[in-house]
Amino acid sequence: MGGVRPRFVVPSATTTTTALLFLSLLLHAAVAADPPFTCGAGAPPNIPFCDQRLPVERRADDLVSRLTVEEKISQLGDESPAVPRLGVPAYKWWSEALHGVANAGRGIHLDGPLRAATSFPQVILTAASFNPHLWYRIGQVIGVEARGVYNNGQAEGLTFWAPNINIFRDPRWGRGQETPGEDPTMTGKYAAVFVRGVQGYGMAGPVNSTDLEASACCKHFTAYDLEKWNGDTRFAFDAKVTAQDLEDTYNPPFKSCVEDGHSSGIMCSYNRVNGVPTCADYNLLSKTARNDWGFYGYITSDCDAVAIIHEVQGYAKTAEDAVAYVLKAGMDVNCGTYVQQHGAAALQQGKITEQDINRALHNLFTIRMRLGLFNGNPKYNRYGNIGPDQVCTQKHQNLALEAALDGIVLLKNDGNALPLSKPNVASLAVIGFNANNATTMQGNYFGPPCVSLTPLQVLQGYVKDTKFVSGCDSAACASASIPEAVQAAGSADYVVLFMGLDQNQEREELDRVDLTLPGMQQSLIESVANAAKKPVILVLLCGGPVDVSFAKANPKIGAMLWAGYPGEAGGIAIAQVLFGEHNPGGRLPVTWYPQDYTKVPMTDMRMRADPATGYPGRTYRFYRGPTVFNFGYGLSYSKYSHRFVTEGTKPPSMAKIEGLKAMATTAGAGTASYDVEEMGAETCDRLKFPAVVRVQNHGPMDGKHPVLLFLRWPNATDGSGRPATQLVAFENLHLKAMQTAHVEFEVSPCKHFSRATADGKKVIDQGSHFMLVGDDEFELSFMA
Ligand SMILES: *[C@@H]1O[C@H](CO)[C@@H](O)[C@H](O)[C@H]1NC(C)=O
Ligand SMILES: *[C@@H]1O[C@H](CO)[C@@H](O)[C@H](O)[C@H]1NC(C)=O
Ligand SMILES: *[C@@H]1O[C@H](CO)[C@@H](O)[C@H](O)[C@H]1NC(C)=O
Repeated sequence: MGGVRPRFVVPSATTTTTALLFLSLLLHAAVAADPPFTCGAGAPPNIPFCDQRLPVERRADDLVSRLTVEEKISQLGDESPAVPRLGVPAYKWWSEALHGVANAGRGIHLDGPLRAATSFPQVILTAASFNPHLWYRIGQVIGVEARGVYNNGQAEGLTFWAPNINIFRDPRWGRGQETPGEDPTMTGKYAAVFVRGVQGYGMAGPVNSTDLEASACCKHFTAYDLEKWNGDTRFAFDAKVTAQDLEDTYNPPFKSCVEDGHSSGIMCSYNRVNGVPTCADYNLLSKTARNDWGFYGYITSDCDAVAIIHEVQGYAKTAEDAVAYVLKAGMDVNCGTYVQQHGAAALQQGKITEQDINRALHNLFTIRMRLGLFNGNPKYNRYGNIGPDQVCTQKHQNLALEAALDGIVLLKNDGNALPLSKPNVASLAVIGFNANNATTMQGNYFGPPCVSLTPLQVLQGYVKDTKFVSGCDSAACASASIPEAVQAAGSADYVVLFMGLDQNQEREELDRVDLTLPGMQQSLIESVANAAKKPVILVLLCGGPVDVSFAKANPKIGAMLWAGYPGEAGGIAIAQVLFGEHNPGGRLPVTWYPQDYTKVPMTDMRMRADPATGYPGRTYRFYRGPTVFNFGYGLSYSKYSHRFVTEGTKPPSMAKIEGLKAMATTAGAGTASYDVEEMGAETCDRLKFPAVVRVQNHGPMDGKHPVLLFLRWPNATDGSGRPATQLVAFENLHLKAMQTAHVEFEVSPCKHFSRATADGKKVIDQGSHFMLVGDDEFELSFMA
């Protein structure tokens, strides 16, 4: 979504309609607190678009058929004006809910009776929990709070442009913080369960109603993950993506969002992919998303993404061409006013037909009907009883705390520097600009939080004698008050530093140039560590990874935590982890690379390494160089062990699967393989098998513990482009100290063991495959 504000004015819906709107507002004065709706008392009688017994598809078509061409074109921007003669209110398509209902965007107004909503941690931290059930419940809270705000008359729309599920491909990306990380399987899972929660669906299983509690939108489709690098901006960037990378990295989250999450929205991105602007790409929007994946919903452009097709990219020769390209490609609504402004001319010039406009409007009005906005007063509708008391409930706030607790990653804990024991801490020095900044804790795309306590405020409640020195005034840390910090550190029993990044270092439109901590931060940390009586504790607040090799190696830094941007309850969560009231179990959802990685051009979209040119590849799946911390890394106050249970792990007997042998083909490198599409759903179902893992918490503390199941291919460097390892499944367990549990994963070789070939086909190789969990491996062979 765009930080760019649309540069044009919405063409007004003529003065007469404004007068009519005013009149209808007067008529409705008695119910001024109601949210806007249509088809209530006073609606034209027997009008099909108001008839709830008819399928929404028919109702939408009926409504569209009643609109004049001018009215139709007016509906194609994110601010859609009212059509008063039909009782249709204005609608704002653009609302945000990345990690809680936010007032970024235009549709949500948290300045009325309701002034806050639950603010969960920034997504990258929530992802680190590896806990789909948590992700789902966060989505559910967003759906409920969205309705609460809407029913309270403080929303002009219920279409939320979240989640952001682009792969966090490069550690410098300013918006990586908004995503679930670098792994396509995990990102796909996050997309599916978050969307299901927001839309009011069950966490899994069939979705048997087209009703929407709120509408989610997977963005930015596709291969968008660069703001600005060395002169390339996201508006002009042409991402060169191979068929192989598209198939197994860039598109899987979107496929899962649509197929498993049943998302009702997709946003096409600013960038081009292999020359074609994504919003103008029929293959991507209509063929892949709608036809191949069965997408049922609306497609919005990113903000001003239609204008840039002509004005920045020059892909369209005229404004009318840009309008024609996007409507013919399958985009439905333009964030901005470009289509509203140039639609009539495009029609006049014969570049689009009224049918193209109707197609888009059909999708748009279907969504509004699925949201129940054409069913009369929403008070009497399915979600009408969700009141303002459902926003910022204690339960929701507890979930924000749970999310922060479950995400926090323990990066280092030499000599059990953590947890601290309260009775031993008579005095505490809290040092760092990130200890007491409530805004930084929210990351981006947030609304006013229900409550907010900074780590400093909470720690002051734990230890009476707490001294605070900010050290520098922001993450830039151009100058540091080192003597003051050293003085405080030397005179306290314990020292906790809060360093890292903030939104002036990484955000939308701002990628980092370096991976190291900015400015004087390292000097400050080292000086403080030298002055302290005991090894210090370093808490990093940042979204993207930082190169803290110096801190990892420094024995005077006893422990390190990564706490992302932890949201409204982040201060409490950090204190609970520091004092051992919570046993950290989060795992890094991205690789932490050394500073040296910045020599890689951000514009190089290739995931696979190219040893011939020294290109190192990207993410744990393909990058084999040195790391600061690996994907999936994270310590705990307890020790855990993992073992495959051989009696329970029963790979299928391939020989028994009829016809499989005949399907094996030798493609390229000499390894015979099976084409997954050719195998078909039935054979794939018969290949599914259980993998059982025994997990033990060896103590000393109870804890939540994500169990990550990877697949390892034996020959990652044979030119086939296989990832070295690939996360295939994960589950977050809660285990008491000394408790043992068994986790059963359903493994689907077609889904989990297949790889994408150079031309984007999915195949399973014959021969050895290894499943990995912790240090344990389980070998299985595919041969028929
Ligand atoms: C879907 O159907 C099941 C079983 O009939 C029911 O329990 C569930 O509530 C339904 N879900 C929705 C969202 O209507
Ligand atoms: C908090 O941090 C933000 C950047 O994330 C900065 O703009 C703001 O000035 C800081 N506030 C204070 C009080 O330091
Ligand atoms: C992996 O490579 C080794 C040595 O090159 C070869 O013997 C083996 O057959 C290969 N295995 C697969 C599954 O390709």
